[in-house]
Amino acid sequence: MEELSIKIENCTNLDELESIRVEIFGKKGILAAEFGKLKSVPPAEKKDFAKNLNDKKSALMEIFEAKKSTLESQALEQQLKSEALDVSLYGYEQTKGAIHPVKDTMDKIIDYFVSLNFAVESGPLVENDFNNFEALNLPKNHPAREMQDTFFFADKNLLRTHTSPVQVRTMLNSDIPIRMIAPGAVFRRDYDLTHTPMFHQVEGLVVDKSGVVSFANLKAILTDFLHYMFGDVEVRFRPSFFPFTEPSTEVDISCVFCDGDGCRVCSHTGWLEVLGSGVVDSNVFKAVGYENVSGYAFGIGVERFAMLLHKIPDLRTLFEGDIRLLEQFK
Ligand code: PHE
Repeated sequence: MEELSIKIENCTNLDELESIRVEIFGKKGILAAEFGKLKSVPPAEKKDFAKNLNDKKSALMEIFEAKKSTLESQALEQQLKSEALDVSLYGYEQTKGAIHPVKDTMDKIIDYFVSLNFAVESGPLVENDFNNFEALNLPKNHPAREMQDTFFFADKNLLRTHTSPVQVRTMLNSDIPIRMIAPGAVFRRDYDLTHTPMFHQVEGLVVDKSGVVSFANLKAILTDFLHYMFGDVEVRFRPSFFPFTEPSTEVDISCVFCDGDGCRVCSHTGWLEVLGSGVVDSNVFKAVGYENVSGYAFGIGVERFAMLLHKIPDLRTLFEGDIRLLEQFK
């Protein structure tokens, strides 16, 4: 028995300990064999023999359990050591992207009109004079062309100055009724706090049989749209001029910075101009060969909306790609 306890004591790993367990305590092990001898022990000695054997068994058990827990904690320690991480090692930062505020605003605008069943149309950035000007009731040498400083190419094509040419393209290619929006980039020779040479618009056009759509529909839809975008603001329709609409109206909302009280952003008027719109001029319908129709159109400046929604004071920061600005929109 002495040698058995020494054997356990000298054991150095759990695998070895397991085979020792089987050897000593197993069904066919040393102890089982000792207990088997009980049968042949004379009755008078049986009791002592059994007690002696049981004592030895529990003594060995105790040594065994102690050894087992020592070896187990050693094994655990070793495992922890082998799996240890060097937390001082240099790692790669995981950065999370964000949707650019202009794109985000554009998506929000598109969502509104798509929910009202408007189709989403698009056109090229490089346009011809007819689509960008002529068909929109801006004949050559018309003074209103000055409203939009244009980038021209040598071949007389141009970078579209607004998304309105998509109106022309859509009307030339489809029949009424038309309910469309056209989101996209536009270009003008302009650069200051509120103007960049490239910016985005969402054009809108609704055309149906004469008399079906009216200025009243335009007012209703744009008022609802502006409430969707800006919440509880006042909406005001102000007479204006666009060559392609008659009557034309610019739409203002009560200033989101001062709630209409008057501040620097709204030039102390309490109002902010947010879009242009009107009833489509009959000359536009003539240019695309439409007869007996009526319609309305509107043009939304996406950056302007993004600036007002996020209270961004300088439009140019939207295009500088400064990560510190963009990170605020995660
Ligand atoms: N195209 C005009 C602009 O760029 C906006 C507009 C669109 C106005 C449609 C009226 C109707 O300023």
